[in-house]
Amino acid sequence: MAVIAGNWKMHLGPSDATDFMKSVDTASVPTVHELIVFPPAVSLHVVSSSAARDPRLQVGVQNIHWEDSGAFTGEISAPMAADAGATFALVGHSERRHVFGESDGDTRLKVKAAVRAGLVPVLCVGETLQERQSGRLDEVILRQLDATLDELRVAERFLIAYEPVWAIGTGETATPADASDAHAVLRARLEDALGVAGSATVPILYGGSVKPGNAAELMSAADVDGVLVGGASLDPASFREIAAATG
Ligand code: PGA
Repeated sequence: MAVIAGNWKMHLGPSDATDFMKSVDTASVPTVHELIVFPPAVSLHVVSSSAARDPRLQVGVQNIHWEDSGAFTGEISAPMAADAGATFALVGHSERRHVFGESDGDTRLKVKAAVRAGLVPVLCVGETLQERQSGRLDEVILRQLDATLDELRVAERFLIAYEPVWAIGTGETATPADASDAHAVLRARLEDALGVAGSATVPILYGGSVKPGNAAELMSAADVDGVLVGGASLDPASFREIAAATG
């Protein structure tokens, strides 16, 4: 069983999202796989509504505010996302951290808000190229995980996505060995914190330039429990192909 998640980023508004849902047709994807899409917030409702819905697809929100409501122009809260049909929430995606300056403290509050609203948090962690080249990979991803671990451990369920910043949207993919090494570091920390049995319920996904041509190889790497796909998840055929390739 694997988790195949598509992060649409700022693509596929309600009309395009409706077209995606009409043509995605996940019937060929092995039923053991769990499929999740993360549309932009304005498309959450059409993706989750019965008219357009593919019953195999679960829905998540890409970002939430840490408060449930208030004077925060332009933001959306976890309870609102849940009301619009989300059951998962990405937290700490690299673009949130590096383009919008989100800190570890922000991600902690957002995980807390997601759990409070009953959303399943998907915590994204990953190092920059400079951090990797200076030998700080483990330190960075563990710092990002540790910042949220107290909030994550009280969640009924959560997922981790390891996404090296240098591999996101660049066409540069980590090798399966790179992914396995980082996942093993995260897995060891989860086992320390939650015990082996508790850790085993937490899938660790790899993200960063996953496409139909490399998904199967990445998925077969040790400790890789699924993929978080950006660009290649926007086309229904490519998303389906990735999911079907990861048998
Ligand atoms: P990418 O994005 O597949 O386009 O590299 C992955 C992500 O940001 O989740």
